[in-house]
Amino acid sequence: DWTMENIVDRKVEEICKKVGEDRVILALSGGVDSSVVAALGARAIGRQMTCVFINHGMLRANEPEQVEEVFTKQFDVDFIHVHAEGRYAALLDGVTDPEQKRRIIGTQFWKEFFAVAQQLEEGGRPVKFLAQGTIYPDIIESGARKTGGKASTIKSHHNLIPFPEGVSFDLIEPLDHFFKDEVRELGLALGLPAHIVYRQPFPGPGLAIRIIGAVSPEKLQILKGADAIVREELDAYNQRLFDQTGERNSEHSCWQYFAVLPDIRSVGVMGDERTYARPVILRAVESSDAMTADWAKLPYDVLARISGRIVDEVPGVNRVAYDITSKPPATIEWE
Ligand code: XMP
Repeated sequence: DWTMENIVDRKVEEICKKVGEDRVILALSGGVDSSVVAALGARAIGRQMTCVFINHGMLRANEPEQVEEVFTKQFDVDFIHVHAEGRYAALLDGVTDPEQKRRIIGTQFWKEFFAVAQQLEEGGRPVKFLAQGTIYPDIIESGARKTGGKASTIKSHHNLIPFPEGVSFDLIEPLDHFFKDEVRELGLALGLPAHIVYRQPFPGPGLAIRIIGAVSPEKLQILKGADAIVREELDAYNQRLFDQTGERNSEHSCWQYFAVLPDIRSVGVMGDERTYARPVILRAVESSDAMTADWAKLPYDVLARISGRIVDEVPGVNRVAYDITSKPPATIEWE
């Protein structure tokens, strides 16, 4: 029968069989999908696996520190933190097209992993495999492989961008037939802590696809500040609902929530002074698998608090708008 424990056992066995005596790099973002693959890999092949976290500089406030903390203190795995911020900033300089951003980021991920693999190989056994937390919806929306190439690309998920010349790995993707809610169950069966299992999804390209137009240090700083407030307030809102209902993703609680920075300015007033500054867009949705989503019908007091805090606390922002579009016809992310 198909209990989660059975699925864990079967996946562990599959990984052992595929890897044999070889070595594996795990593409670790710290999100639920790659963390579940890390836990499976740790069980299956232990220190034949090295978890590699690429910091591309477009992560949320405090995120790199938290990922490093969890994977060096709470997991018994080999962990490498790659500081690639400068390389990504240079590659993305002036790039505005969403698919081009995604391609650049995804391609550079492969190069970063391959560089680590080559370093690990020196003097040791070759690193043949790359494991990653690709899930079924990633494949569908990228219109990628396995669907026979018939589906059209909605957006290219970073983990499905083709390898650039000179890079090669055999892929291990134990979750490629799972939906998000199933991955979470698997995570619980593996004993992962709730704060990882229930982390909201975060796209591999990170804040780059939530900054419309070119990425810059100034925009990143604004978005990180606004996003931290959105998460703080809606984490607390979700927790209140959870305390009342005992359900993690109850009707009306949010599944994913974040801030988006459009490439426009608007006029405002502060004291007697005119401001000409940036609006921030709040995005919050209810969903179970990200294939479809409804905009969250948040209470006005929660919206008011988020708006008030963002304009008070984040320099350079004078306006907050709320995205009231469902998926379809919109997507969850703006790019
Ligand atoms: P959209 O915007 O297509 O997003 O409605 C669906 C879900 O996928 C996440 N997303 C990504 N996740 N790599 C990822 O790992 C990506 O390139 C990527 N793009 C979107 C998005 O946050 C949402 O949960």
